[in-house]
Amino acid sequence: MKYDQIIIYYFSGTGNARNAAIWIEKVAKEKDLRTNLTNIDRFKTVDIPELSGKTLIGFCAPTHGFNMPPIVLKFLFKFPKVKNVDSFILNTRAGMKLYKFYLPGLSGVAQLLPALILILKGFRIVGMQPLDLPSNWLLLHPGLKEKVIYSIYKRCQGIVNNFAINILDGKRKYKALFSLPVDLALIPVSLGYYFFGRFFLAKTLVATNACTNCNICVSKCPVEAIKKVDERLFWTYKCESCMRCVNICPQRAIETAHGFSGLIIVVVYVLLIPFIISILKYYDILDIEKQSKLFEQVWSLITTSILILFGFLSYRILHFLMKYKIVNRIISYSSLSKYKFWRRYKPPEY
Ligand SMILES: Cc1cc2nc3c(=O)[nH]c(=O)nc-3n(C[C@H](O)[C@H](O)[C@H](O)COP(=O)(O)O)c2cc1C
Repeated sequence: MKYDQIIIYYFSGTGNARNAAIWIEKVAKEKDLRTNLTNIDRFKTVDIPELSGKTLIGFCAPTHGFNMPPIVLKFLFKFPKVKNVDSFILNTRAGMKLYKFYLPGLSGVAQLLPALILILKGFRIVGMQPLDLPSNWLLLHPGLKEKVIYSIYKRCQGIVNNFAINILDGKRKYKALFSLPVDLALIPVSLGYYFFGRFFLAKTLVATNACTNCNICVSKCPVEAIKKVDERLFWTYKCESCMRCVNICPQRAIETAHGFSGLIIVVVYVLLIPFIISILKYYDILDIEKQSKLFEQVWSLITTSILILFGFLSYRILHFLMKYKIVNRIISYSSLSKYKFWRRYKPPEY
């Protein structure tokens, strides 16, 4: 037998990556391996059990913005150096089902970056598996229907079992590399998400009047991003938009403020930035239209930073105004997630 123990570290916003880790652990137990399944929520230090030459270490996590979530990247960076330890990476992605067809998500660098970090840490990568479990991106779309979720889950469990059997038998499996050209093409988008997008998304979540202050979201947030400010919930920039809070709130009180976020984007791109451009031109400081292609790129970074900054200030003001019932109602009713059709995501539990 190639391995005598398997250690799996996982991060999971809404349960998909956790379920995948559990499936792999189950296969390992059937093969009489010692198993250790560790959730990295709120980790402060990276503690690893004693490693033998026959240890396999796995990392399971969702894909966020065509990359691994920042908490996972931090965890990998903090991981102690090892010598020739075998490891695998499994990233769950946004799987969908259209009629009878299963549609895959997109990994971007969610496999490549962790693989690079692990190799630099002294690991040997023996498996790279993307897994198209149901999409949980509730900011963008309603949770999938139960029937679709179960169908996708059934398919994925087979894929994971097969993957686990193969790597535990000492074979190498690199399914993630099949989409290499697409993943490489997505690098700019993953960078944009990592350095800008995620900060904007962190400021799209609000708690409405339906909140009963049960604090479940505060205590369950994997990165301690939800704070109480003036006795009301406030999402800090630490938020990774993992969707756990939106999903588990028993009152459905946590909404994506679609109306508010849309308004911020319109104000910044239709009013504020054109206004700044006209001022710069009027005072002969800078004529954006006459600048080079390179400057265009720099300018788009500047405008995105303006969006983030403006979003931050507006979110502060919104948080203050949300204490008034009327503002709270307007924000709530202008959020698509308020309406029944915007289902929360309910993955099966194992
Ligand atoms: C903020 C956010 C960003 C996401 N980005 C991607 C992505 O870039 N590519 C993709 O295929 N899926 C993406 N997804 C979908 C999740 O990766 C997918 O549903 C995953 O299975 C969720 O796993 P979890 O339940 O363990 O959190 C994203 C989801 C969220 C909430």
